[in-house]
Amino acid sequence: MNVDLSGFLTKELKKTIREYRAACSENDSRIVREKAHICAILSQKLAEQSPSFRNKYLSDAKKWEFIASGKNPVSLDISNRDPSRRPETQDSANESDLDFDATSLISSSSVRWDDIGGLDEVKRLVKETVVIAGLRKPAAIQPWKGILLFGPPGTGKTMIAAAAAGSLHATFFDVKADRILSKYFGESSKIIASLYASARKRAPSIVFIDEFDALGSARSEGTGEATRKLLSSLLTELDGLQDKNADRLLLTMAATNTPWDLDPAVLSRFPRRIFVTLPDEASCAAIIRLHLRGLEVADLEISDLGRRCVEQGYSGRDIQNLCQQAIWAMIHEENPQLEKLADLTFDELSEQVLKTRGLFAGDFTEAFEIVRSPVREADLDRYRQWSEEYGGM
Ligand SMILES: Nc1ncnc2c1ncn2[C@@H]1O[C@H](COP(=O)(O)OP(=O)(O)OP(=O)(O)O)[C@@H](O)[C@H]1O
Ligand SMILES: [Mg+2]
Repeated sequence: MNVDLSGFLTKELKKTIREYRAACSENDSRIVREKAHICAILSQKLAEQSPSFRNKYLSDAKKWEFIASGKNPVSLDISNRDPSRRPETQDSANESDLDFDATSLISSSSVRWDDIGGLDEVKRLVKETVVIAGLRKPAAIQPWKGILLFGPPGTGKTMIAAAAAGSLHATFFDVKADRILSKYFGESSKIIASLYASARKRAPSIVFIDEFDALGSARSEGTGEATRKLLSSLLTELDGLQDKNADRLLLTMAATNTPWDLDPAVLSRFPRRIFVTLPDEASCAAIIRLHLRGLEVADLEISDLGRRCVEQGYSGRDIQNLCQQAIWAMIHEENPQLEKLADLTFDELSEQVLKTRGLFAGDFTEAFEIVRSPVREADLDRYRQWSEEYGGM
């Protein structure tokens, strides 16, 4: 029988974070690293226990491991300085270095709205918000400055942000909150100022902050002065955005799997909160069609498959996996000798043709067995409750 240890582990993690913070304020670098190491192990174990938040805990584990390794400038310097003070090298980091960092976050987005199956209401809301932010309008009409996308993993939040940028040909700043925190830990609020300066310069821009909870919850849980500064400068940017650049689009989109972890001050800057939940039957069918593009599907009852996906609680990512599994089942059946071709050279291989055929329901039988949704009913309830209370759609 599987025993759910997540409650116990969370309590231990919180306790160890408190001890870590105490060690920080006492400048005890040995204990700081030791506690960070324990936090890394606990986060790793929580990742195994909580499939829905696996990615978040894994990236937490990496962050803690990084601190434990002593490579972090703050923890290295901790023994001989007040940890709330930033090291000189960070204060003196010049603007052009920081600007270089900001531009390295630019990613080109080729995702279009048509690449996203279903989610019609979510797409409509995001499109409207983006369009209003971009249009010329009387000063009295205040567009939303930021959009918060929340929901279970794999439901298409990142795709939506990428499609918003892709369709507008906007510069897309893809910011992984956790990476910023670990890579530039303690490196002053200039990072955020530089990011937004760069986004303003290259407007129309969309700043997409993924794993937003890593930043947005920073004020309350296990964080130091530097992280708090980073967050408060983000809040300042979100407040000032429209005034500094009234006629060019600069929209912040943030995504999280754990909206309940967000700091109230952060939440209040994101009045537009959109619940991206698991796809319904029609959306599942649309997503399946997208992931089988280019293959023969005349013998498939796609609406039946869509119904089964809903029964299994699949996200878009699970459906993508399902389709891949089914395609592989078909390829294996049609090409039983595939493995033997590994002895051929690349030139010889390119003379061979992979055999394919149309898909049928049988190809999906094993796929439905293999692909399991990591999202539990209790998780969904929690999203629904939060959504009702805090105004998601
Ligand atoms: N509505 C959709 N239409 C088509 N594909 C989808 C859809 N939703 C998810 N997918 C597939 O799942 C993958 C993961 O989606 P995405 O990264 O946008 O999820 P996410 O909500 O950002 O997940 P996470 O919370 O884990 O970051 C996509 O690359 C895509 O292949
Ligand atoms: Mg994502």
